[in-house]
Amino acid sequence: MAREGTIRAPSSTRRNQLLAKGEAMPASVIVGLQWGDEGKGKTTDFLAEQVAAVVRYQGGDNAGHTIVIGEDTFKLHLVPSGVLYGHITPIIGPGVVVNPETLLREFDGLVARGIDISRVRVSHAASLILPYHIALDKARETALGGAKVGTTGRGIGPAYEDRAARTGLRVEDLLDAASAASRLSRALPEKRALLHALGVDDPAATDERAILAQIAAWGERLRPHIADTNELVQRALGAGEHLLFEGAQGTLLDLSHGSYPYVTSSHPIAGGATTGGGIAPLQIDEVMGVMKAYATRVGSGPFVTELTDAIGERIATTGHEVGTTTGRRRRVGWNDALPLRYAVQLNGVSSIMLNKLDVLSGIPEILLCVAYEIDGKRVERWPSSTAELSRATPIYERFPGWSEPIHNVRALADLPENARRYVTALEELAGAPIVLLSVGPERTQTIERAWRPMRRSVNRP
Ligand code: IMP
Repeated sequence: MAREGTIRAPSSTRRNQLLAKGEAMPASVIVGLQWGDEGKGKTTDFLAEQVAAVVRYQGGDNAGHTIVIGEDTFKLHLVPSGVLYGHITPIIGPGVVVNPETLLREFDGLVARGIDISRVRVSHAASLILPYHIALDKARETALGGAKVGTTGRGIGPAYEDRAARTGLRVEDLLDAASAASRLSRALPEKRALLHALGVDDPAATDERAILAQIAAWGERLRPHIADTNELVQRALGAGEHLLFEGAQGTLLDLSHGSYPYVTSSHPIAGGATTGGGIAPLQIDEVMGVMKAYATRVGSGPFVTELTDAIGERIATTGHEVGTTTGRRRRVGWNDALPLRYAVQLNGVSSIMLNKLDVLSGIPEILLCVAYEIDGKRVERWPSSTAELSRATPIYERFPGWSEPIHNVRALADLPENARRYVTALEELAGAPIVLLSVGPERTQTIERAWRPMRRSVNRP
């Protein structure tokens, strides 16, 4: 494998070919290639200038996006990061689970800082997170004891359970008191029994009258934002707009494809944009995978390259690796080519944004996992099975580090030679071109390669 300190030019993508023929269907998906917290907020924000709408397609307020613009830091959980641009329609799609309380608090916070939230649209078909979902999430985790998933405690799993069981309430029920009342009265006896069985005494979580009053109040405030977002998405695509679908969490937390049961209850992979965002597979022509220069994980579950030494501590401190949603210190490790390649394939990644390269500056030697040893055998494909992963030990390739700070570098050629070598190795092992490189939290602290055609047309309102 070549290890020159130069980066291969990205090959012509299907998108470029379509654009050349004037046939582009400009829809991009942004997806996390690790365990979430890859910096997707910055990626979305960076690309947002070019798009008409940003659509969240799964997850809920378990997500946390931090965006830094000049002196201002914005922490968002539910509202798509495109809200910071006046020309973008931020859309919360049908695949999302919405806690209206969090959403309205986020609206208030944005309004207080002068951000216009009137354009935000929430799908009528998104599911609601209600107080009993949060109580159940916490009660289940307590009952699991040492085997807990380490959830964010936001009620995500129980809300998705209700959706699958067809017993949940949806955003449209906020506008229909009769439907909300009948659905709630059918759901509550089971929830009370469940909480009782789990040893929880929390009458407020299942207080029918209080929840119905909340629903009415939420409905009143959210009414102007509730819409058939599938219709909005398809209309915008039909008009030649460029849309961005924003995944939360990451591929390795996917309910089907991650290290089950240490996963979230939705589908962060690019395919989730179709089930949760209202777009068809063939309408997507670009999938940008986002990763960090190292790995982090929050909550329980196997983490083969985890660092529990001073280097891990240093990366966590320099990289501010503290959860936006929970305030928990993230677990930190070296980058791992096995889940990376798995994620690139599973998502059909056409390009990569590599974030937080600057955090590794000053570390004398950087390790990159290229294979595992499991039961005495060398393994080069990521086994998503938790049992196998817990028996894996990493086989590393070692790279000399660089001492220079790189925050002010804006061209690949100006990166230290050793940084370029490391990036080249990551790119080769991933099997997809790294087209954007972040060297600091600000929008401007980004190295951009000449790679991406501008969108075909924009019909801004
Ligand atoms: P839940 O999504 O709250 O049910 O948590 C399930 C797992 O996903 C836990 O390990 C969480 O720490 C993890 N998780 C959920 N959301 C995020 C996120 O936005 N970033 C990183 N990890 C997350």
